[in-house]
Amino acid sequence: MEHKEKRIVIDDKSLPFTDGETILDVAKRNHIDIPTLCHLKGSMPTGACRICMVDVAGARTLLTACTVPVEDGMTVRTETPEIIRSRRMTIELMLSSGRHDDCLVCPSSGSCRLQELAFRYKVKGASFKDTGVTYPMEAVNPFILRDFSKCILCGRCVQVCNEVQVNEAIDFGYRGAQTKIITKGDLPLKDSDCVFCGECVQVCPVAALVPRDARMVPRISETEPVRTTCSYCGVGCQMNLHVKSNRVWHVSGCEEAAPNFGSLCVKGRYAFDFIASDRRLTTPLIKENGSFREASWGEALDLTARRLKEIAGVHADAVGVLTSARVTNEENYVAQKFTRTVLKTNNVDHCARL
Ligand code: SF4
Ligand code: SF4
Ligand code: SF4
Ligand code: FES
Repeated sequence: MEHKEKRIVIDDKSLPFTDGETILDVAKRNHIDIPTLCHLKGSMPTGACRICMVDVAGARTLLTACTVPVEDGMTVRTETPEIIRSRRMTIELMLSSGRHDDCLVCPSSGSCRLQELAFRYKVKGASFKDTGVTYPMEAVNPFILRDFSKCILCGRCVQVCNEVQVNEAIDFGYRGAQTKIITKGDLPLKDSDCVFCGECVQVCPVAALVPRDARMVPRISETEPVRTTCSYCGVGCQMNLHVKSNRVWHVSGCEEAAPNFGSLCVKGRYAFDFIASDRRLTTPLIKENGSFREASWGEALDLTARRLKEIAGVHADAVGVLTSARVTNEENYVAQKFTRTVLKTNNVDHCARL
């Protein structure tokens, strides 16, 4: 029997699909833009934000594209006057909840998804009564600033913490207008199970979760991303250094690249201050009579070679070499070759085993 390909029509385009795909999956694959806020790639769709509403022929109401599985013969429109009205109202409701009247000084301005959608749908501001619930900013940890007056309760942070990183440090807490993202017991992050991977900061579409120093440094939207590989361990996570004026201000994981697909650990994401630190050594130091003095590379290398030769000449096993996960495979190879063939000892090890 001839196999008939299943198809769906989105905005007059007839498109094939495979079972299990949602309307959003098919639209994305075919470069049809349906706005999303709560949708998080690789996680169970929650349908929390209602911004991805589309018109499915025969349905009684608009449906969320991120949750509805496609069916053979389905006909969908992604932007009608009714959809635009619905999206505007959703954005107005979000703007009415919490404090979004200070985009000018907000650290996420320029990269905020809510700001972008408000502009796209020509929403002038909050038009519903504020819930009146306010939250103090939480800044009692070295990495993350939590400002729930900007939270739109999209749930992306909860999903990424629980489903992607599997740290299970945060969840929805309280009820109704009091609903808030909390740790167990609503403790500050520093007293919770949080490991400060910063994954929740990367996926937060607004400024509810930002790096601790976000109000003192250039906004991410003012920087240029430079793709590189994390130098902290052998996993080889792909990251973007966000650079302005020849200085790194933020780090984010590359969402499209293996092996990490956007994830980073606390070191890769936050431990980059050393790059611009004025405490970095820029010249070799030689210790004499208990204190260090600056030396040239030539002098330092000559001294090191002479002393290694003297010590190894007496007893080869009195010297050893420790290599590093922060250098390349080739450099580690050369270091062990040097140790075995020049210093004539097998005392060679690697910092990953310390
Ligand atoms: S979070 Fe977004 S919408 Fe809210 S103030 Fe900041 S830039 Fe504006
Ligand atoms: S930093 Fe990581 S562990 Fe902590 S709440 Fe965010 S996602 Fe969870
Ligand atoms: S903190 Fe950010 S990611 Fe988490 S629910 Fe609020 S807006 Fe969404
Ligand atoms: S993106 Fe579909 S409901 Fe939020």
